[in-house]
Amino acid sequence: MTRDNSPLDSILQSRKYRGLDLPEETLRDLYERELQRHPNPKEAVKAVREKLHNIIAPYLGDPDYEAGQAALRRAFAAGDPAVVKEACRQLMSQHASTRERIPLLEDFYPRLFAVTGQPRVIADLACGLNPLAFAWMGLPRETRYHAYDLHHPRVELINTYFALAGLAPLAEHRDILISPPEVEADVAFFFKEAHRFEQRQRGCNRAFWQALKARWLLVSLPITNLTGQRDLLERQRALVARTMEGLNWPVTEVLMDTELVFCIEKQDGA
Ligand SMILES: C[S@@+](CC[C@H](N)C(=O)[O-])C[C@H]1O[C@@H](n2cnc3c(N)ncnc32)[C@H](O)[C@@H]1O
Repeated sequence: MTRDNSPLDSILQSRKYRGLDLPEETLRDLYERELQRHPNPKEAVKAVREKLHNIIAPYLGDPDYEAGQAALRRAFAAGDPAVVKEACRQLMSQHASTRERIPLLEDFYPRLFAVTGQPRVIADLACGLNPLAFAWMGLPRETRYHAYDLHHPRVELINTYFALAGLAPLAEHRDILISPPEVEADVAFFFKEAHRFEQRQRGCNRAFWQALKARWLLVSLPITNLTGQRDLLERQRALVARTMEGLNWPVTEVLMDTELVFCIEKQDGA
């Protein structure tokens, strides 16, 4: 980076973000975009802080990651699948996106895979704690489950889970908007993040969805706000329609209680 990057260091070293090991390219991308809108570097840094707050969303909640790893190890050592599921449920309940999905889990993946068929290769994009729902997916351990998040402790927790569950530890720490995954997936999950991508960079979903080499792209969006009050159904349909305008990708909607999943068939993966 040609510009002085010390203002960004102050963000990275702040108590809020210190332990997360955020990708440097994320900060750089945000800063360079904000400098175009705010030539004054101080104002640009302030705008980066605001964007980052929304991207990382500490208000959605976090488990204690070290304690979470220990809890998973204990649960697997018990040798009882019900104990493992309970440990995963506990961890998922500590982040709003997965917490809201817990009541849906028994039906969630069977309904999606009824549309897509059973995947052998998954790409879970901006995965959060969602890979901990693997036991509800009804898939074999040979499944290649690629997962991506820019929050390092989350990625490490997921890889610990994968290793304990006998899956390949394919969770990756990366900014998927800047570096879209190249993996050829049968099914890509992009759950509860597309509306937030629009806040980071308006209109960015289209090129991102096009770049993915997935046969099926499952985009989910919340249909209520965090307090459960507002009906966002039409707004989310409009976001998806706008993003895919002119692209001939067939879409099947699967409506769950709190989440609408758009099953988008990218056909040739192009
Ligand atoms: C709202 S949560 C959704 C988590 C998960 N998809 C779910 O529905 O349970 C958003 C997650 O995306 C991650 N994230 C946000 N922007 C990202 C990016 N550009 N690249 C990778 N991960 C990202 C955040 O760290 C967070 O874990």
